[in-house]
Amino acid sequence: MSTELIKVTINEKDFHVPKGSRLIDVCRERSFDIPSFCYYADLALQASCRMCLVRIEKMPKLQTSCTIICTDGMVVTTQSEEIEKAQRSMLEFLLVNHPLDCPVCDRGGECELQELTFDWGNLEERFIEPKNARPEKYLSPMVANDPQRCILCKRCTRVCDEWMGEDAIEAGNRGANTVIGTYGGWLNCSECGNCIEVCPTGTLLDGTYRHQARPWELTQTVSTCTYCSDGCQMSLGSRGGELMRIVARDRYVNGLNGEFLCIKGRFGHPFVNHEQRLRTPLIRYQKGGKLIPATWDEATRFAAERLDLIAEANGRDSIAVIGSPRLTNESLYALKKFATEVVGTENYAIADAFSLTTFFDNLGGPLATHRDIRQAKTIVLIGGEPEELQPLTGKQIRQAVRNGGAKFILINSVRIRLREQASQFIHIRPGTEEAAVLGLFSDADDSRAAQKLGIDTGELETARKTINETQGDIVVMFGNELSDEAQAVVAQLPKVFAGVGRRVLLHPLPLFNNSVGAHDLMEGDKSVFELLDGAGESIRAMYVAGSLLPMHTRPREDALGKLDLLVVQELFETDTTRFADVVFPAASFAEVDGTFTNNDGFVQRVRRAIEPVHQSKADWMITTQLARELGVEFGFEMSASAVFREIAARVPAYANLRYPVLKDESQPVQVKHVIAPQRDLSTEIAAIRRAVEDMDESLKPIEETPLVGHELFRLGTLTDKVPQFHLLAAGNPKPETFRISPLYQITIDESLKREPVMAG
Ligand code: SF4
Ligand code: SF4
Ligand code: SF4
Ligand code: FES
Repeated sequence: MSTELIKVTINEKDFHVPKGSRLIDVCRERSFDIPSFCYYADLALQASCRMCLVRIEKMPKLQTSCTIICTDGMVVTTQSEEIEKAQRSMLEFLLVNHPLDCPVCDRGGECELQELTFDWGNLEERFIEPKNARPEKYLSPMVANDPQRCILCKRCTRVCDEWMGEDAIEAGNRGANTVIGTYGGWLNCSECGNCIEVCPTGTLLDGTYRHQARPWELTQTVSTCTYCSDGCQMSLGSRGGELMRIVARDRYVNGLNGEFLCIKGRFGHPFVNHEQRLRTPLIRYQKGGKLIPATWDEATRFAAERLDLIAEANGRDSIAVIGSPRLTNESLYALKKFATEVVGTENYAIADAFSLTTFFDNLGGPLATHRDIRQAKTIVLIGGEPEELQPLTGKQIRQAVRNGGAKFILINSVRIRLREQASQFIHIRPGTEEAAVLGLFSDADDSRAAQKLGIDTGELETARKTINETQGDIVVMFGNELSDEAQAVVAQLPKVFAGVGRRVLLHPLPLFNNSVGAHDLMEGDKSVFELLDGAGESIRAMYVAGSLLPMHTRPREDALGKLDLLVVQELFETDTTRFADVVFPAASFAEVDGTFTNNDGFVQRVRRAIEPVHQSKADWMITTQLARELGVEFGFEMSASAVFREIAARVPAYANLRYPVLKDESQPVQVKHVIAPQRDLSTEIAAIRRAVEDMDESLKPIEETPLVGHELFRLGTLTDKVPQFHLLAAGNPKPETFRISPLYQITIDESLKREPVMAG
C-alpha cells in the first residue's frame, strides 16, 4: 500500500488514511462498527452477504464497504435508519432457513450469526413457511456438518482454496438449495479444520469435540503448539482439569498464525488426558524385570544413587544427558545445567532429526518471520515439504504467491503439492540438494552441478537471475536434506545476494516445536548417534528427557539395553522407556509454564491450562529434583519464570527477556541470534564439490506427488492417542453412513472395520 495519505470523512469526522486502503478496514480501525459475514481480511473478496453496507456521498445506492477502496475526499456514513433497515432485512433473509437451534449448537455462545442477530437483527421472524430441513452429518472424521445453519458466506471454500490449496469443499446446488459440500460426499483433504475455524456459524463443527462442552464453560488459555517448528498460537479450552478443545480463533488469541491451525495443532491434543499417561514414577529394580510404581522420593533417590556410583566407578563422562526438542526452553536449560554443573559431563546432546549448528554459526542475515514470508517478493525453497511438516509456512508461501504475487523457486526431488505455486520448479535427482546449493552460490560450478541435478544449466541461471532482480524481500528456506557444509553456505546467501532494495532472510525448517530453542540452549559437540555408539563402552548411564527418535534407535536397537542405567522422563511408555531403569512421569505442554522458540526465532509463551495430570511434573522440575538429590541446588524456587530469568542472564541471545515482555502473542519477540560477518567458505565449497562428484547420476527425479497427509497423518507417540488419526492413517475410509460418528468404524479392540463401504 502507498504511503501517500488521502482524506476520508466518516460520520462527519475527517481522517487521513493511506491511499489504497479498503473502506471496511478504515472504518473498523477507527472504531466505526461495520457488521460483516463474508469479508475476511487477506482472502479474495466474496461480497455476497451485503451486511457491510454504507452510504457514500455522490453514489446512488448503499455500497458494500468491503469492496470499496477509499478515494480522496470520500464522504461516508456508516449508521443511519436506511442502512440499519437494509442490514436487518439481510439478517432476516439469512435466517429464513436457519433452524435457530442455538441451545444445541456447538457454536452457540461464540457464533457470529447469533451475535449479529442480537446486535442488528429483528427480534421477530416474519417467515412462517416450512424451512429447508437437512440432516446433520460428518464430512470426515474431523469435520461435522449441519447444512441448515449455512449462510453461504463461502469463507470455508476460500480458506480451503487459498490457504490450503486443496479446494476440498465447494458450494453445490442452486438458489435456496445451495449447500456447502464435498466432492464424492467425503472429505479427503489435509483435515486442517480451518474451514471450521472461519465458519461464522455452527455449520462446520469440530467433529472430535462435538457436544462435549459449551464455549462459556471453557477456560481459555493462550499457548503455543507442541508439534511443528512453526509455533502457532492457540487457545486451549479446558474444563475441570481436562483439555477439551483447541482453537486459534482470534477472539481469544491473535498470534502469528491468525486463525490458522493444522490438523495436529487443532485435533492432536487428546493425548493430554489420555488414560495411558504415566501415573507415577516407576523403577525397574532388576534388568529384565518389570517397571514397578514408586514414590517420587524413592525413584529420585534410586536414580541419584546409581548415577553417583557410575560416575565414581567410570568417571563423569560415562554419563550422557539427552534432551528432546519438544521440551520447553526452561527444561532444556535445566538439563544442560544438570549435565555440565551437576554431572560435569561433556556428553550431552539433543535428540533432533538434524542439527542447526553450522547454520546458526554462519548466519548471514536475519530469520524470516511468517509475516515476512507472506510479504516476500521471492521465495526459494531447497528440499523440505512444508505443507506436511510446517503447514503454516506452507500456507504463507501459497498466499505470498496467490495473493501477493511473489515468485517462488522450488528445488525438490519430489513433485510436492507446493509446485503448483512455483514460478520455477527445479526438479532434481534425489539426494542432490547440495549440488543445487552450489549452483545457487555461484555460477562457477553450473555445468557440473546441473549434470548431477539432472537439469539444464540454464535453470540455475534463471533462478539466480530472478533472485538478483528481486526488489523487496527474498526468503531462502531449506529442509532436512542439507549437509552441515551446505547449511553453512545457505546461511551465507544473504551476503551473496545482498543488493540495493532487497533484504535476504533465512527460514530453516526443523521438525519440532522447539528445535530452534534446543539449538540455542542445549546444542553440544556430540550427536545422539555418537552417544549411542558409546553405550555399554565409554557411556554407562543415560538420562533422557523425552524419547529418542526412531531414526536414532532403529539402527542401534541394542544400544540402550547395554547401559548400566537408563533414566527417562516421559508422558507415555515408549521405545525408550522399554529399556529404562527409572521412569519419571512428565507433564505435557498443556500442564506447564515455559517458552518455545519457533523457526522465526520468536520466543513464545507456553502456559499451564490444567494442573499436571496424575503425579506428573514439568521436566525442569524433575531435573531440579534430581540435581537436589545429588547435592546441587538450582535455586529455581519451583518457578518457570525463575528458570527463564537465569536463561536471560546467561544466554546472550535471550538477554533481557522476561515473561512479561513475551506476554502479548500479537507482538512476538525475536531472539537475538548473532549475525556472522561474510565468511570464507572455501572449505565448505570444497567439501560440497567432493560430495557432488560422488552423486549418483542414475537416479531419476520422483514423478509422483505424495498423498495429502502422508506425513501429517503419520502416527507418532502423541497422535497415536487420537482415534481419528487412526482412521486417517488407515486411508480415511468412507463410512457406511455419515450420520453417526465415523469412530464407529473402530471396534473395541481398536482395529478398523474394513468392510466394503457405500456412499451415504
Ligand atoms: S479441513 Fe482444511 S483442507 Fe479440509 S475442507 Fe476444511 S479447510 Fe479444506
Ligand atoms: S459452511 Fe460456514 S463458512 Fe462455509 S459458507 Fe456456510 S456459513 Fe460460511
Ligand atoms: S502448523 Fe505446526 S505449529 Fe501450527 S498448528 Fe500445525 S503443527 Fe502446530
Ligand atoms: S462483508 Fe461486504 S458483502 Fe459481505
